[in-house]
This record gives sequence, C-alpha cells and structure tokens, in this order.
Amino acid sequence: MLKNTERNYGAIARFLHWSTALLFLGAYMAVYYRHWLTDKGTPENWTALQLHLSLGLSIAVLVVLRVIWTLSNKSPVHEPGSRWAHLAARLGHIALYGVLIVMPLTGYLGTGVATDWFFLGEVPKFADTTLFKTVVEGQLGLSFEQFEAPIDFIHKKGGAWVVWVLILGHAGAALYHHFVLKDRTLVKMTRGKG
Ligand code: HEM
Ligand code: HEM
Repeated sequence: MLKNTERNYGAIARFLHWSTALLFLGAYMAVYYRHWLTDKGTPENWTALQLHLSLGLSIAVLVVLRVIWTLSNKSPVHEPGSRWAHLAARLGHIALYGVLIVMPLTGYLGTGVATDWFFLGEVPKFADTTLFKTVVEGQLGLSFEQFEAPIDFIHKKGGAWVVWVLILGHAGAALYHHFVLKDRTLVKMTRGKG
C-alpha cells in the first residue's frame, strides 16, 4: 500500500522516514569523522565535509517531499494512551520536523563553501547567490561573517545537543512502545501491515 491507512504508514511514508533516518546517521558520521579522525587541509577532511553537505542537502529535498506527502495523506490512528502521552508524541514529531527543516537550512545558509553534491555537480553556496547579495548585503547591510555567526551557532550547538536529545528520545519511545507496551507503534512504521 503506497498511501497511509488507518492502521499503518504506507510505503512512501515509510521510505521517506527510514531513508531520512539513514541520511541523518550518515551526515553525523561524516561530520564527526572529519572532526575527530582527519587533519585540516587533507583530502579526507575535504571529502568528509563534502559528504556532510551532500547528505544534508539530500535531507532537505526529502523533507520537502515528506511535508507535502504528510499533509496530503491521513495519519494512522494512534495506539491507546493517555492524553499526555499523545500530546508528547505530537510535540515530539513537530519538533523533529523542526529539526529536519532548521538543520539543513542553517547548514546551507551558513556554509562558506559550495557543495559538490556527491561529487556529481555543484550547488552554489548561499553567499554566492543573488538573494544573498541583494537582500543580506544590499538591504540588511551585513557581511557574510556577521550573517553567518548566529546561524552557525544554531547549526552547531543545535546539531551537537538538541537534535541528539530529540532523536534518542524518539527512538527510545518507539522501542518502549514495542518491547514494553507491546503495541503497534513501531510495526506501523516498519512492516506497515496487519
Ligand atoms: C539534517 C541535516 C544536518 C545535520 C543533522 C547537521 C549536523 C551538523 C553537526 C552535528 C555539525 C557539527 C557541529 C559541531 O561543530 O559540533 C555540523 C557542522 C557543519 N554542517 Fe551540518 N548538518 C546538517 C546539514 C548541513 C547542510 C545541508 C550543510 C550545508 C550545505 C551543512 C554544513 C555544515 C558545515 C559547514 C559544518 C561545519 C563543519 C565542520 O566544522 O567540520 N550541514 N552539522
Ligand atoms: C532508530 C531510529 C528511529 C526509530 C526507531 C523511529 C521510529 C518511529 C516510529 C515508530 C514512528 C511512528 C510513531 C507514531 O506514529 O506514533 C516514527 C515517526 C516519526 N519519526 Fe521516527 N524513528 C527513528 C528515527 C527518526 C529520525 C532520525 C527522524 C528525523 C530526524 C524521525 C522523525 C520522525 C517523524 C517526524 C515522525 C512522525 C511521522 C511522520 O510524519 O513521518 N525519526 N518514527
């Protein structure tokens, strides 16, 4: 079933969810490999950065498709639970969508280099676009350094802390549902049947 049903996420929602989760993992592995295991100026350091940027931009594309798909599709009904549990799940999912939008956006806006997307073709950096030159430099009168500082702060601090807390909480909640409450929360996002 491609579309969501009352009981399950459909194949498209499941594909978008799990491919995003994989790309997320890859984006983290690339950036921390760069930080911890490579020296500045080496080819590995550059490749790891470019992989981070390529994976991050791919997440941006998937999230646009995902928002459109989610809005044009019904959501499966929730498993039984208290009002507070449902509210927490809802807020958690909204926060995760926030992360999925804010992280690629701040990454792109604040990056000082162009992205060579998986070494297949170049995506110009924001600072080289007409939008940056007319709006940020022209109308706001900001240099790239001034513009980038708060954006970088959000990307780096958010990425290093906030995102982890949300994702670990989210994955932990899914496993708690599956193994402790033994309900269909995880199954409707994995098998999507029954
Ligand atoms: C969901 C997508 C993304 C996530 C979760 C993410 C996460 C992170 C994290 C955790 C860091 C390291 C923070 C630290 O210094 O401790 C980082 C650094 C960085 N990110 Fe992203 N990022 C994403 C997308 C992007 C995109 C789309 C771009 C640009 C096109 C980008 C550009 C950068 C740059 C330039 C750095 C600094 C690299 C470095 O210091 O080695 N990111 N990101
Ligand atoms: C091992 C990691 C993960 C597991 C086990 C997992 C599990 C699940 C499950 C079971 C659901 C369905 C919950 C329900 O409908 O009540 C769900 C939904 C969701 N997940 Fe995850 N997830 C993981 C990683 C991620 C990551 C990395 C993100 C994004 C950063 C994410 C974002 C979402 C969002 C936004 C929803 C709401 C449904 C939707 O619109 O697609 N998940 N997840």
